[in-house]
Amino acid sequence: MKVLVVGGAGYIGSHMVKMLVDEGHNVITLDNLSSGFRDAVLGGEFVQGDTADKAGLDDVFKTYRPDAVMHFASYIQVGESVQHPDRYYLNNFSNTLNLLDAMVKHHVNYFLFSSTAAIFGEPEFLPIHETHPKRPLNPYGRSKWMVEQALADYDRAFGLKSVCLRYFNAAGADPSGVLGERHEPETHLIPLVLQALSGRRSRITVYGRDYDTPDGTCIRDYIHVVDICRAHSMALTRLMANDYSCHYNLGNGSGFSVQQVIDAAERVTGRKVRVDEGPRRQGDPARLIADATLAREELGWQPVYSDLETIILHAWCWEALHHSTEFRKLLA
Ligand SMILES: NC(=O)c1ccc[n+]([C@@H]2O[C@H](COP(=O)([O-])OP(=O)(O)OC[C@H]3O[C@@H](n4cnc5c(N)ncnc54)[C@H](O)[C@@H]3O)[C@@H](O)[C@H]2O)c1
Repeated sequence: MKVLVVGGAGYIGSHMVKMLVDEGHNVITLDNLSSGFRDAVLGGEFVQGDTADKAGLDDVFKTYRPDAVMHFASYIQVGESVQHPDRYYLNNFSNTLNLLDAMVKHHVNYFLFSSTAAIFGEPEFLPIHETHPKRPLNPYGRSKWMVEQALADYDRAFGLKSVCLRYFNAAGADPSGVLGERHEPETHLIPLVLQALSGRRSRITVYGRDYDTPDGTCIRDYIHVVDICRAHSMALTRLMANDYSCHYNLGNGSGFSVQQVIDAAERVTGRKVRVDEGPRRQGDPARLIADATLAREELGWQPVYSDLETIILHAWCWEALHHSTEFRKLLA
């Protein structure tokens, strides 16, 4: 199968490209490298291009004639989306419409979309099922929910079939250590803790210890990046077989608190992290936990790396191999 991976030079997209190439698919990555890295694309064709460029998209579809599109490209920082909603609606929503329009024009009918738990907003019940009300709290979440709604309309009008995969907290790295999380700036907890443990930053801040949770810190559902990619592969197979649009929440179904992540990272690395205490951040719910039963039942998907220490170990291999000066000295 020929798959166009948009945003394939980023964290999750690069793991997806590697998996698709390993599975024997013909892969084309389209990425503007705004936050991705050319050297993270470990196979297939690479096109440096932007979803804002309609003529460029037209060329890509004419040249490569993909059977399906996986769309990872977006801006991803919640805080930045509050400061610059224009950028988020433009890149995450409007540019996605350019991509969908190119698909319709070139009769490409299968689309997988990176959605997010941020579309749900403050949880009204836990764990969060696909039917949970969608009340995103910020422009990032709203831009993703707008795409999901547009996809339902594109299905009705043009027969474009899609699967929206709503990830909770993506984490971990390819177990081989060749790929990992390289966001700049980094805002995700596990890489921040590991950067503090490798010496790349001096300390981390815990935002709030007065939440209604056992240790007072926020609880999140961490899902291994390889498990996310496996769900995409399974979802694409099902989409092409059934020709039916759907949505799946992707998470482990169990939550870990910020303090539990810090403790686990200290156990995995045998090091101590320095912690500053900060105030709660606006719009940070106490708990976000996925109900991924639908993905289990309909896709036969099951997270392989659900254990927190394994997720952290894989992320640590990446961090240590690529960024720890001590580790490099040992290897030299
Ligand atoms: N990382 C998470 O925890 C998480 C959770 C939920 C959802 N998601 C979603 O998953 C997707 C991938 O996230 P990530 O963490 O890999 O982000 P990332 O920033 O590492 O990757 C995004 C990639 O898209 C590219 N890109 C951005 N705008 C583009 C454009 N206009 N044209 C072409 N390329 C463009 C970037 O250069 C980058 O390579 C995003 O859509 C994000 O919203 C991520």
